[in-house]
Amino acid sequence: MLKRKNILITSGPTQEPVDPVRFYSNYSSGKMGYALARVCVKAGHRVTLVSGPTGLPKPSGCRFVQVQTAREMFKAVLRFFKKSDIVFKVAAVADYRLKHISPKKIKKTHETMDLTFVKNPDILKHLGHIRRSDQILVGFAAETHKGVEYARKKLKEKNLDWIALNVIDKKNVGFGSDLNEVTLISSDGKKIKIPRQNKDEVAKFILRTVLKVELDESHRFDFKRYSPISFMKLFNLSRFKK
Ligand code: PMT
Repeated sequence: MLKRKNILITSGPTQEPVDPVRFYSNYSSGKMGYALARVCVKAGHRVTLVSGPTGLPKPSGCRFVQVQTAREMFKAVLRFFKKSDIVFKVAAVADYRLKHISPKKIKKTHETMDLTFVKNPDILKHLGHIRRSDQILVGFAAETHKGVEYARKKLKEKNLDWIALNVIDKKNVGFGSDLNEVTLISSDGKKIKIPRQNKDEVAKFILRTVLKVELDESHRFDFKRYSPISFMKLFNLSRFKK
């Protein structure tokens, strides 16, 4: 029997306002985090989804918290963190925000425009500092180069249990796509490649791996999709360090 968990998921981009008509953001659509929310709800868990602005319909069956900026996301995440057993930090948080938000629309009177940015809080790093050992922290990483190296660095610096390294430098995968390709890396040295497939399937694999349990019938794993190596890794994780 699957034990019901409190799962906190962040998804989508954050938007950092420049003036009343402009913002600074990134290409996250929210699809990966929403897929994870759907899969966790379907598997019977209590889910809180803290979402940046996306065009997606709210997944049913979860508590939904809408935010815009990184600081709003930080505040929302802190409200629910203590009671969470697992956190999936899928959101692509803007690392910087504008130092000054113009209260009026900035007019295009100059040929160039200089904006000054200041660093946003690193939400996940903070969670890594205040976490309890019975909580599971899963970060997501989007890198264009040296992916595994940078992901491992984040795993360590943010005190995570797992990091999901996303492919974002290939066509039709990652940001905005219905497909994803992920390498899951654990703090105890496991490295599991999840081949390219739709984000719901990737989400099922991630949930199953993190919980180390079978999902219910409706989430039964499609073994045909995975190579024998991935399959074996999943069932006997401890024997496959690195
Ligand atoms: O939304 P989609 O279009 O479906 O695309 C999904 C995705 C590619 C955005 C997603 O799967 C993904 O990779 N998300 C993480 C993107 C990211 O911001 O990576 P990062 O390497 O900058 O951050 C690492 C981790 O720290 C992330 O878990 C992030 O949520 C967290 N972080 C980062 C900065 C910050 N200020 N606070 C944070 O909590």
